[in-house]
Formats: sequence, C-alpha cells, structure tokens
Amino acid sequence: MDDIILNGGYNKKAILFEKGFKDKIYYKGKELIDLSHCSGSLLFGHNNSILVKSLKNYLNKKNSIFSHPNIYAVKFSKLIKKKFPNFKKIVFCNSGTEAVTKALRISFATNKKKLIVSVAGSWHGSVSKTLFYPDKNFKPKPISSGIEENKGKIIFIPYNDIPNSKKILERFKNKINCLIIEPVQAGLPTDTIGSYLNFLQSYCKKNKINLIFDEIITGFRTLEGSVQKKYKINPEITLLGKVLGGGLPIGVIGINNSIYKKLKKNKLKVFFGGTFSANSMSSLVGYETLKYLDSNKEILKNLVAKCHYFQKKLNDFLILHNVDARVYRFQSILRIIFSKKNVFNRPQRDFLEKKKTKKINDFKKYLLKKNIFYPNNGLIFFSTATSYKSIQKLLKHTQIILKKKF
Ligand SMILES: Cc1ncc(COP(=O)(O)O)c(C=O)c1O
Repeated sequence: MDDIILNGGYNKKAILFEKGFKDKIYYKGKELIDLSHCSGSLLFGHNNSILVKSLKNYLNKKNSIFSHPNIYAVKFSKLIKKKFPNFKKIVFCNSGTEAVTKALRISFATNKKKLIVSVAGSWHGSVSKTLFYPDKNFKPKPISSGIEENKGKIIFIPYNDIPNSKKILERFKNKINCLIIEPVQAGLPTDTIGSYLNFLQSYCKKNKINLIFDEIITGFRTLEGSVQKKYKINPEITLLGKVLGGGLPIGVIGINNSIYKKLKKNKLKVFFGGTFSANSMSSLVGYETLKYLDSNKEILKNLVAKCHYFQKKLNDFLILHNVDARVYRFQSILRIIFSKKNVFNRPQRDFLEKKKTKKINDFKKYLLKKNIFYPNNGLIFFSTATSYKSIQKLLKHTQIILKKKF
C-alpha cells in the first residue's frame, strides 16, 4: 500500500474500506458487520434514506455548498435551540475537535484563570490543550509530540469519584478556568453518574469555573436528547457533533446565557470563522436528521432496546461461563471491558486490561475473520439499521472467542 498518509490507522496492514450500506461495510468484495458506524455518527446506518434523499433533492435543484451565511444554517440553528433551550447562542464548526478548540477559546476569553481540569477517561479529540493522559499518580503525560507548550496547564480528576475529585479541585480552585468532561464516557459507559455531575455543577458555580460538557457522542444518542437534559444540568458550554451531522462533518458549540452575558458585557471578540463552518450542506443534512428523529420517537427506543438485548445476552453468557469480561452500556453506547471485576473508571479499566493486549488483539482478529468489524478503540455503535440477524451472529462469535481467550 502507498504509505503516504500519516493519519491514524493508515499503516501497511490497514483495511481500506470501499463502501457502506445499512449495517455493513465492504472491502475487496468482503462484507463485514460494522460495529462502528462512522465512529457513532451514522445513527440510521450507512447510505440511509435521510442522508441520501436530502442530498439528492438538494443537488437536483442545481444547488451547491457555500460557506457564507445561508438559510440552511439558520433553520438548523433554530431546531437545535428547540432541543437545547439553555443555548443562548450557537457556533457551527466542522468537527468535534474544532468545537473543543473554539470552546476553550471562549472559556479563556470569559475567565482569566489559566488551568484546565480534565476528567480521567474523557476524550476530547485532537486538541493540543487536552492531548494529555493521567499516569497512575494522576500526573498529566502528553500523548503527542508538539504540544509541550501546554504542559502544566492541565490537571486531572478521577471520574465519578466525588471525594478524590474534590480534594484535587480544592488544591487548585483559584487557578481553574474550566472543567471539561465527557459526562458519560464512551470508554466506560454507565448511568450511575448523576450525583457526580451535580456535584461538579455546584462546585464549578461556587468557584467561578466554566463547566464544559462534551456531548459529542451522547448528544442525540440519548433518549432524553442529552446527558445534561437527563440529569438537569446547565453547563456554561456544550459541545455536539457526530449524530447531529447525519453523516456529514459537523461540530456545534452551545453557550448558555451566563457565558453570553460575559461576552456581551465585556465586548469580547472571539474568532469563530472557517470556510466550512455553518456550510449549507452539513446544515441541511443535520436539520433533516434532527427533524426525522423528532418525529419518530420510537427510533431511539428501538435502538436502545437492541443494545440492551446484546448486552444482556452476552453478559448472561459471560457470567454463566465465568468469563473474565463484561459488556457495559449507557443507552445506545456499548463497550466490552475485558475484566469481570466491577470497573468504575478508565485508569482502573486500563490497569485491568493492561496485561491482556495480546488476547484482546486475538479477539479482534477472530471477529474480523468472521466478517465482523470491531473498531480498534473498542467503541461499539449499533445503528437503527443493525439487524437482529447481525446481532445474533455477533453474539455467537463474541461468545466463542471470549470463552476461549478470557
Ligand atoms: C467525546 C468526544 N469529543 C470530541 C471528539 C472529537 O471529535 P472529532 O473526531 O469529530 O474531531 C470525539 C471523537 O471521537 C469524541 O468522542
């Protein structure tokens, strides 16, 4: 293979996919069950009718993409606002990474303190300020070269652990600009998080820290629409992406009234521009996706039921056969953890899985041989196109290989 591409995943052994349809992806004539669905973006599956119809209609009207202010972005913004009434203003971006980058810019414009708090196990994309990982003493270690200038500007707190998070926050509270969190972590999806999120909200309010909810995965994948809605939290800044773009690239920042008032009162000029930000085509497809979701409430319920079915069937089997693995789930977000111990946070998960890298790789290779694509980062996303037939096949093969290896 021509190895000119440096992006993640493009190595000599990479499978180069050619096509996607419903819950399958294809390469070299092979058909695989897709457990990724474009990293969780394709809620309705590959080549779904919302995406296809809206683009076809649009292009057939001799229409095209344009970056200047357009009716599609305005229409879309109104629908997003309906779903998130706490958004005073919206910023359109092209990806989650861009949304995180610009959200931090807003946070630093409105709050003069310098430190970012990140929550161990949360992922916020390819952003230099957050590309750190806590070691076992919670010391931030860079996970990329070229980001050295951001050292010393980020600290970590443990996920879903009020006493230990509070201890760390207390030590730094006068220096903390913002706290960014993936409120339900796709790396360890559970729903026992409400009191932790409420603690963070009141702590941030009391200490003038901007609370940033990264709902790039959970937004519109959650029955209530978002995690903040489920737990009645009003973060200063919210990030959305993935599902919202309906299959086209997107990122959205929503700021609440308190941030907006600061921007206005101090006449702050934050730069938000970009060629494809608020472009007409992503806005159109995003709008049609939200509208469809809104008028078909059963869709998400059925998807969550499918995910629950898979989790229950596999966990029942794993318990019965004393296999060292469990399926974790938050609504439509699934993950297999390769340990039967109760795992509460990401560092603990990494510790328990550390010595199992070879077995986990064998697990992935086996599934691939059986024509199942299990994404390298372990995040499993079904879509509304995922059939029970595919789930039965997935169950059969995960049971065989997990029992054999774990
Ligand atoms: C929670 C979360 N935040 C941010 C990002 C970055 O988004 P993107 O890959 O669109 O840049 C991701 C991507 O997986 C994500 O899962």
